[in-house]
Amino acid sequence: MRIYRSKRFLKNYLNSLPSTKTLGFVPTMGALHAGHLSLVENAKNKCDIVVASIFVNPTQFDRKEDLEHYPSTLEKDLILLKKLNCDVVFLPSVNEMYNRSVKSDDFDFDGLDRGMEGAHRKGHFAGVGTIVKRLFEIVNPDFAFFGEKDFQQLQIIKKLVEKEQLKVEIIGNSIHREPDGLAMSSRNVRLSTEYRMAAPFIYQTLMNAKELYKTLSVEELGNWVVSEFQKQKLLKLEYFSVASEDTLLPIKEKNINQKTRAFIAVFADNIRLIDNIQL
Ligand code: PAJ
Repeated sequence: MRIYRSKRFLKNYLNSLPSTKTLGFVPTMGALHAGHLSLVENAKNKCDIVVASIFVNPTQFDRKEDLEHYPSTLEKDLILLKKLNCDVVFLPSVNEMYNRSVKSDDFDFDGLDRGMEGAHRKGHFAGVGTIVKRLFEIVNPDFAFFGEKDFQQLQIIKKLVEKEQLKVEIIGNSIHREPDGLAMSSRNVRLSTEYRMAAPFIYQTLMNAKELYKTLSVEELGNWVVSEFQKQKLLKLEYFSVASEDTLLPIKEKNINQKTRAFIAVFADNIRLIDNIQL
């Protein structure tokens, strides 16, 4: 497994590969878990060469505290990637990616970034768009793999590719969960035992909401979720939204012709957890 910290050396290596080889790319912020690894496995199954990146991107964090406490397990990550026969790992520094100007570029995502994560994490998607575009420019992949765990991010990356006319194809991958249903996340390791035990309530509520959606209106469902979280001492609901998968706009009336998802963000102590489910 080749490891590069320099974009120039990485580019040189990738340019030296035969052009017939397909290139898959899995961008991550490290602290790898089975969700990340499933993206690498899918990339390995589809592509000749797989590049994974590990870079904790400062411009996508709206809370300093979240950035400062973001977990880092680099040695373990590299062992896991090697086991999966990942071909190349890119580990740039902040300077390598931002050249001393740690700022986001401006993007127009046609409103996909307006609600949910975009509304609650100011500047988050401009930061994601900036880093993913720069990584795509360096790696120049044929396919790039993203998780549905961050469904809004996945749709925004597809929009970025369309708007910037990039030649990469974006592949979405299903959400990996712990045995108790909690969506895997690098932030889960920060949960104390008490909060970790409470956290599966998030997915349980989503599954119950999916069932109730058969009989309740969108508004009634929203009220039901709010009331469920009021009974919960440890978890604080930030938002619950029923939205179109394509526009990510909230749904007011049920429409069987429209693919719909329920999205949720919850604080467990000061750790923010997100999840979603197709309805
Ligand atoms: P990170 O949170 O490290 O996630 C990297 C990729 O793994 C993303 O595509 C994310 O959706 C996917 N992922 C995370 N948890 C998952 C799970 N439980 N099941 C399936 N996939 C999962 O997302 C980012 O990093 C960053 O925003 C990044 C795209 C790297 C840009 O900085």
